[in-house]
Amino acid sequence: MGEFDGRVVVVTGGGLGLGEAFSRGFAAAGAQVVVADIADEAANQVAEEINGLAVHTDVSDESSTKAMAQAAHEKFGRIDILINNAALWTAILPMKPWDEIPVEEWDRVMAVNVKGYFLAARAVFPYMKENKWGRIINLSSNTALHGVPGILHYVTSKGAAIGLTRALAREIGSEGITVNAITPGLTSTEGVKAHYSNEMLESRITARSVQRQQQPEDLVGTVMFLASDRAEFITGQTVNIDGGQLMH
Ligand SMILES: NC(=O)c1ccc[n+]([C@@H]2O[C@H](COP(=O)([O-])OP(=O)(O)OC[C@H]3O[C@@H](n4cnc5c(N)ncnc54)[C@H](O)[C@@H]3O)[C@@H](O)[C@H]2O)c1
Repeated sequence: MGEFDGRVVVVTGGGLGLGEAFSRGFAAAGAQVVVADIADEAANQVAEEINGLAVHTDVSDESSTKAMAQAAHEKFGRIDILINNAALWTAILPMKPWDEIPVEEWDRVMAVNVKGYFLAARAVFPYMKENKWGRIINLSSNTALHGVPGILHYVTSKGAAIGLTRALAREIGSEGITVNAITPGLTSTEGVKAHYSNEMLESRITARSVQRQQQPEDLVGTVMFLASDRAEFITGQTVNIDGGQLMH
């Protein structure tokens, strides 16, 4: 028996990086997983391997998020857990001084990283409400706590994820739905390893209390705990997971 037997989990951006680790982690614990990603090939591959459902989704588009939730409900008959993970982030956002960020780039980051969390939550909400049970976990970032320079749009969007978590928790707590956020440190996904130099990754290690590289699997346990029955009375919170780099 898996801890998440009978639960249906939507992981946005679930085909690559951290999202892939969440998709695989929940599936291994018995959940039925909806891999909601704009990257079809990756999503299809992960879904096939975990016997889940891949749904082409652009989280910045309301009709796309609604169609995704409908497809998930049609296939599995319920939606219990949303991992708001899909985002544009530093690996594809070249660092630059804040006054050189093109306005179009700022708008796109907000559309995916902020509006995308809002739209995905809104799309699954009716189905969670139906069962008076739900878990929403929002991926923020420790860059929002630290105030990392060079990626002002990204850091701003990750701060917004914390605000969204707090206010939404108050709005839907009475429906039996909790909303929490995590703030990971720099995590060695394939994207990070391709984008950042070894020196950069090494420098993060020395800044941590637990002095090693952060792996995607370091986040899975906390996310699964927040998604479980055991975390029923925890909502509106932000859990920092970075090996004790920052103390939040
Ligand atoms: N990797 C890290 O070091 C790190 C640290 C802190 C926070 N985070 C956060 O964790 C989350 C995942 O990061 P990651 O490193 O796995 O990123 P990633 O770039 O490897 O993966 C992002 C995923 O989101 C998908 N995606 C992008 N735009 C989309 C859209 N419009 N609609 C649907 N899917 C879309 C991509 O196809 C991809 O599967 C992000 O929210 C990021 O901000 C990552």
